[in-house]
Amino acid sequence: MADLLRLVYASKANFDSSGASGDQGEVLSEILTQCRRNNEPKNICGVLCYGDGSFFQCLEGERSAVEALYDRLLNDPRHRGITLLSKRVVPQRMFRQWSMKFMNVDAKIRRMLQIENLESFKPHSFSDLMVERLLVELRDASEKRRPAPIGTQGRGASARQAGAARELMPGLVFATAAGVLAIAFGLMLAGLI
Ligand SMILES: Cc1cc2nc3c(=O)[nH]c(=O)nc-3n(C[C@H](O)[C@H](O)[C@H](O)COP(=O)(O)O)c2cc1C
Repeated sequence: MADLLRLVYASKANFDSSGASGDQGEVLSEILTQCRRNNEPKNICGVLCYGDGSFFQCLEGERSAVEALYDRLLNDPRHRGITLLSKRVVPQRMFRQWSMKFMNVDAKIRRMLQIENLESFKPHSFSDLMVERLLVELRDASEKRRPAPIGTQGRGASARQAGAARELMPGLVFATAAGVLAIAFGLMLAGLI
C-alpha cells in the first residue's frame, strides 16, 4: 500500500493583509475553490489556517499526490517564504472529511499562542509540539468564518447537504414558530380559543 503522508508548512501571504483593499477575502476564496476542486479527485485532504498575514497548511494523502501539490505550491505567487514544518508518514488521516478545511486564527488559537508567549500568529517559528497541538485544535474546531460560499466546505454531496441543512435550521425553526403563533392569533381573533 502507498505511504500516507502528512505534510505541514508555513508561508506568508502576498496579498494586502490589512483587509483594507478587499484582496484578502477574494484571494482566500479563490485558493479554497482551487483546493476543493483539485484535492478531492486526488484524495488529498487537510486544513488551511490563515491569520496575521501567514498561512499554516496541512496536506494529507498519498505521497506522490502530496509531493506533487507541494511542488506546485512552492511556485504559487500568492505566498512566499514557504517553510516545511513537518513531513511524515502517518497511520491515518486527521482531516479525512475535508478536501480543505479552512480556519481563521480565532480566540482559542490566540489563547494557545499566548501560552507559548507568541503575540501574533507566526507559524514559521512553531516548535514540533506547537505544530501538533495546533493540528489537533484545527481538527476539533468547527469552521466559524467562511470566505467561501456555504455548501462548498466539506467533501462530497452529502457533506455539502449536511452543511447547508445546518445553515438553514435556525431560519426553519423561526419560520415554524412564527407560523404557529400566527395561526393561534387568528383563532383567538375568530373567537375559537
Ligand atoms: C496558501 C495556498 C494553499 C493552497 N492549497 C492548495 C491545495 O490544497 N490544493 C490545490 O490544488 N491548490 C492549492 N493552492 C493553489 C496551487 O498553488 C495552484 O495554484 C493550484 O493547485 C493550480 O490549480 P489549477 O491548475 O486547477 O488552476 C494553494 C495556494 C496557496 C497560496
